[in-house]
Amino acid sequence: MSNDDGQEAGYGRVGAPKGPAPKNKPITVPTIRGAKGKTPLVMVTAYDATFARILDEAAVDILLVGDSLGMVIQGNDDTLSVTVDDTIYHCRAVSRGARRAHIVGDMPFLSYQVTPEEAVRNAGRILAEGRAHSVKLEGGVSVAPTIARMVAAGIPVMAHIGLTPQSVHAMGGFRVQGRDDDSADRIVADAHAVEQAGAYALVLEGIPGELAERISAEVSIPTIGIGAGVNCDGQVLVCYDLLGLTADLRPRFVKRYDELFDRSVAAVREFCVEVRERKFPASKHTFGARKKPIAVASTG
Ligand code: KIV
Repeated sequence: MSNDDGQEAGYGRVGAPKGPAPKNKPITVPTIRGAKGKTPLVMVTAYDATFARILDEAAVDILLVGDSLGMVIQGNDDTLSVTVDDTIYHCRAVSRGARRAHIVGDMPFLSYQVTPEEAVRNAGRILAEGRAHSVKLEGGVSVAPTIARMVAAGIPVMAHIGLTPQSVHAMGGFRVQGRDDDSADRIVADAHAVEQAGAYALVLEGIPGELAERISAEVSIPTIGIGAGVNCDGQVLVCYDLLGLTADLRPRFVKRYDELFDRSVAAVREFCVEVRERKFPASKHTFGARKKPIAVASTG
């Protein structure tokens, strides 16, 4: 980086990893399947190259380009307006920032519920254009035939049951599911249905810990919990929650490992003060003019 030569002012591809490939092998679908009952899998959502690089560097196993992007990136109250093109755009960015982690593209609302053919086509685009390694979709018994079609087409599918945010209106809000026996039995049936259909892993969201433990013991594929207690084969959190980047949302199941919202506000406030007081930019942040060669005086 040369700050004197206006050509190279220190900009490159911000999220692009540099240096030799990591020693740890990339995480694949067989790696994830093989993690059942072993060291818990770590999945975190990512939506851009910079965060993908941070999470990859921290050895997160799976980056989920979640449709939660509708909330944390687009600022909506739910995930329903995310499109397949949005997902592809964010998957591509994430794929440029990560080298080791497995990348899962979340299938948006109505991209797989209408027909299995549409599901295969949309999932295929998320893999081919978005460079994701697999897709995730919500639902159990009702989507099992679609999962089977996608798996037959060579598309690895992670399923997602329990509290399924795309059904927010049907559930009457983001509510914990499976608290009574009937509802718990339905969720167990969902778990078996997606396993039978060929899903390679299963997200369990917003269900009692005992129910998640039972499902994890009954199915042969890894379960990845969010608001589902500690007895799953892995855990997932939204990266903005984990890092404390969300200002108002503080769900009970989230542990904030930092308070980056507050720390970012403080940092930007400091920038505002320094700009207003002409303390920034200092001379080390300022380019100089090119020096002219000194003219030699002629004596003749
Ligand atoms: O979209 C998302 O972030 C998710 C996780 C909460 C599992 O589906």
